[in-house]
Amino acid sequence: MISLGIETSCDETSVSLVKDHYKVLVNEVVSSIDFHCKYGGVIPEIASRIHLETINEVTRSVFKKTALSLNDVSLITVTESPGLLGSLLVGLSFAKGLALSSEKPLIGVNHVNAHLYPVFFQKAKPRFPFIGLVISGGHTSLFLVKDFHNFKLVGRTRDDACGEAFDKVAKLLGLKYPGGPEIERLAKTGNADKIKFSFPGLKDSFDFSFSGIKTAVYYLVKNKKISVKNKKDICASFQKAVTSILIDKSIAALDKYKVRNFVIGGGVSFNNYIRDTFRSSFKNNKVKLFISEKKYCLDNAAMIAGLGSQLYRSRKKRSRFLIN
Ligand code: KG4
Ligand code: ZN
Repeated sequence: MISLGIETSCDETSVSLVKDHYKVLVNEVVSSIDFHCKYGGVIPEIASRIHLETINEVTRSVFKKTALSLNDVSLITVTESPGLLGSLLVGLSFAKGLALSSEKPLIGVNHVNAHLYPVFFQKAKPRFPFIGLVISGGHTSLFLVKDFHNFKLVGRTRDDACGEAFDKVAKLLGLKYPGGPEIERLAKTGNADKIKFSFPGLKDSFDFSFSGIKTAVYYLVKNKKISVKNKKDICASFQKAVTSILIDKSIAALDKYKVRNFVIGGGVSFNNYIRDTFRSSFKNNKVKLFISEKKYCLDNAAMIAGLGSQLYRSRKKRSRFLIN
């Protein structure tokens, strides 16, 4: 069974073909980031126009690369939310057009939930129930996942999303957008113990808060000329503080729900320091840790095609099917 995935929620136009839920045949991602860089963030109108110009080409290319055609596809899947409205609309309209003309079923997929799916492309797969942490540009969410239909939100950010905090701190330091990779690059040669950021514990809750650290960086750099060495230390200390919040909350949620499988996904999980620190923190723990492969951390359609095919396979009466 081959499912076609379409993802256009932000600045990546992505199309993928996934076979039998777990095998990615092809995953094409075309980013419009270069058009947004100079504005310091994604401009929704530009993003949706570029999706419109790109989506046909990317879809053609995916079929060409695999020597498959729409006839070989059993299911069309598309990101339905959350995301930039105009961008989502391009993907949804395109997917609906394909589904109507080919009389194939179409299913809408939640983008945030889908960020936890790429670990299922790996040989060793997590078992339900698991705790899933999505760290992306728009979300920082902890889920208790009981099955592919059942994502219970148990913790979320109360202010900035994790990736958003990276992007904003990078901006304060005069680094380019997106800030995550820039901070990771500078942090490599910085002293992570130079600055001790304090952050609210938000006791008895699995919620996160990153805006305090961001504000602390603001006051560190305000009206000052910051040397490259200082910048590196700020990046390393900031990255360390964020990682420690993520790990503390994750462990607390695993303890509370007595769950032994833990999954991480989303753009920020591309960060090697975060990947390595999670790995070493969970080394002697009884919990099994699953981290998305780097090529599936950022926005991609393979995760949509994969989760969509699972939702379709185990569909319940009240599943949210769009058409056919
Ligand atoms: O999941 P994603 O591609 O898009 C959303 O769904 O939001 O995540 C994008 C976010 C951006 O905020 C970006 O700065 C962050 O992921 N990011 C990183 C790294 N690479 C991307 N954050 C930290 N370290 C990185 N290496
Ligand atoms: Zn995303």
